[in-house]
Amino acid sequence: MLSVIMMILSMGTPGLSTTSSFNVMQYGAVGDGKTNDSPAFLKAWKDVCQTSKSEISSLIIPAKTFLLRPVIFKGPCKSKYIYIQLSGKLVAPKTKEEYKGSQINTWLGFSYVNGLVITGRGRGTIDAQGSIWWDNPCLGNAPSGVKCRPPTGLTLYRCNKFKVIGITEVNPARSHITLTSCKSGIITNLRLIAPGTSPNTDGIDISGSTNIQVHDSYIATGDDCIAISAGSSIINITGITCGPGHGISIGSLGTRGEIDNVEDVHVENCTLTETLTGVRIKTWQGGVGYARRIWFENIRLVRANNPIIIDQFYCPNRVDCLNKTEAVRVSDVTYRGIVGTSLTETAINLSCDQNVGCYNIVLDRVYIQSAIPGTKNTLAFCHNAHGTASHTKPSVKCLLK
Ligand SMILES: *[C@@H]1O[C@H](CO)[C@@H](O)[C@H](O)[C@H]1NC(C)=O
Ligand SMILES: *[C@@H]1O[C@H](CO)[C@@H](O)[C@H](O)[C@H]1NC(C)=O
Ligand SMILES: *[C@@H]1O[C@H](CO)[C@@H](O)[C@H](O)[C@H]1NC(C)=O
Ligand SMILES: *[C@@H]1O[C@H](CO)[C@@H](O)[C@H](O)[C@H]1NC(C)=O
Repeated sequence: MLSVIMMILSMGTPGLSTTSSFNVMQYGAVGDGKTNDSPAFLKAWKDVCQTSKSEISSLIIPAKTFLLRPVIFKGPCKSKYIYIQLSGKLVAPKTKEEYKGSQINTWLGFSYVNGLVITGRGRGTIDAQGSIWWDNPCLGNAPSGVKCRPPTGLTLYRCNKFKVIGITEVNPARSHITLTSCKSGIITNLRLIAPGTSPNTDGIDISGSTNIQVHDSYIATGDDCIAISAGSSIINITGITCGPGHGISIGSLGTRGEIDNVEDVHVENCTLTETLTGVRIKTWQGGVGYARRIWFENIRLVRANNPIIIDQFYCPNRVDCLNKTEAVRVSDVTYRGIVGTSLTETAINLSCDQNVGCYNIVLDRVYIQSAIPGTKNTLAFCHNAHGTASHTKPSVKCLLK
C-alpha cells in the first residue's frame, strides 16, 4: 500500500472531491518503448481500481513511451471516478507473436468500469501499430476460408458514464475505438488517424450503447469515420471532420437475419471530405428491426462520393446477396442543410427494400453540386422510398407519397 504515491486530500472545501493517484512508474513500468509494461500497468490498475479511499482514483501515465501487450483493465472499481491521465505514448507490439495467448478482440480494453475518464490533454497518444494486420488479418496460419478479425485499438465494454478526451490514436489493426454496451458517454477532442487504404479501421464504432455524445474530433481513416450499429439509441454526433474514410454510417444492420434496432441519432455540423460515402444508412437483406428518428443536419461535403445514401441491399462482399422478404425498417430520417460537392453523379440514392420500403424520408435544403468541373448536374435516385423533399438540388422527384 506504500506504493500509493500521492494522496491529495482537498482540505476544508466542502464538495471538492478527493483524489488518489497511482503512477505506473512506481509499479515497475520502464517506459523505454521496448519493455513489455503491461504487467506494471496491471499492478497499478489493481490499486487504482481497488482503492476506496477517495472519490477519484487516477492512473498516471507520464510522458514516456510504454510498450503494452494486449491488456484488459477490468472493473467494477471502488471509486466513483477512474481517471486515466495519459501524458505519454502507448505503443502496441510490432509482432503478432506478442498477441498470442491473450484476449485478441482488442489491444487495450476497459470493461465494467463506471465513471471512467481517459484524458490525453492533447498530448496523450496511442499507436496501435496495426499495419502488421492489414495485409493478413489472421494471427497465425488460418485455414483458408476463415475470416480473421484483428484486434481493435481501444474498447470500452459495459462502461457507464465515461469520457474520452484529447487523445490521438493512430493505425489500429481494426477500429480505433469501439463502444459496446455502454451508457452515457462523451467522446471529444480526439484525433483518429490511419491511411485511407487501411482496411476496417473505423474511427468510432458504437453498438448496444445509449446516450453517447461524440463531438469536435478529427477522423481520417480507411473505413467509416463513425458507425452506429445494433442496439444504439440517443447518439449525438457534432463537429466531426471526416476524411479520408467512408463517412458517417448507421449500420450495417440486419446481418445474417439479425434483429437490429437504432433510434434517435443526431448528426450535426460535420464536414466530410473525399469520403467514399457521405451520410449513409446501410442494412442487409433479410434483417429485422428498425432504424428510425435519424437526423443529418448542417453537413458540409467536399468532393464526397455518394453523399446521401440509404442502402437496404447492403452486401459488400457480393456473395449470397439474394433479395429476402424481410428488411430492417428505415423511417423518420431527415436530411436538412446538406451542402457541398459530389464526385459521383448520383448525389442522393435512396434504395429501399421492395416489400418493406422506407417511410417519412425528409429532404430539406439539400444542395449538392458536381465536384467535377464541366459536368452536368447531379442526380437523385429512389427505389420504394416514401417522403418529401423541399429546396433540393438535385431535385428529388422520385419519392413516393
Ligand atoms: C442531442 O441532440 C438533440 C438535437 O440537437 C438535442 O435536443 C439533445 O439535447 C442532445 N442530447 C445530448 C445528450 O446532447
Ligand atoms: C451547429 O452549428 C450552429 C452554427 O454554428 C450552432 O448554432 C449549433 O449550436 C451547432 N449545433 C451543435 C449541436 O453543436
Ligand atoms: C444506388 O444504390 C444501390 C444500392 O447500393 C445500387 O445498387 C445502385 O446502383 C445505386 N444507384 C445509383 C443510380 O447509383
Ligand atoms: C433485388 O431487388 C432490387 C429492387 O427490386 C433489384 O433491383 C435487384 O435486382 C434485386 N436483386 C436480386 C439479386 O434479385
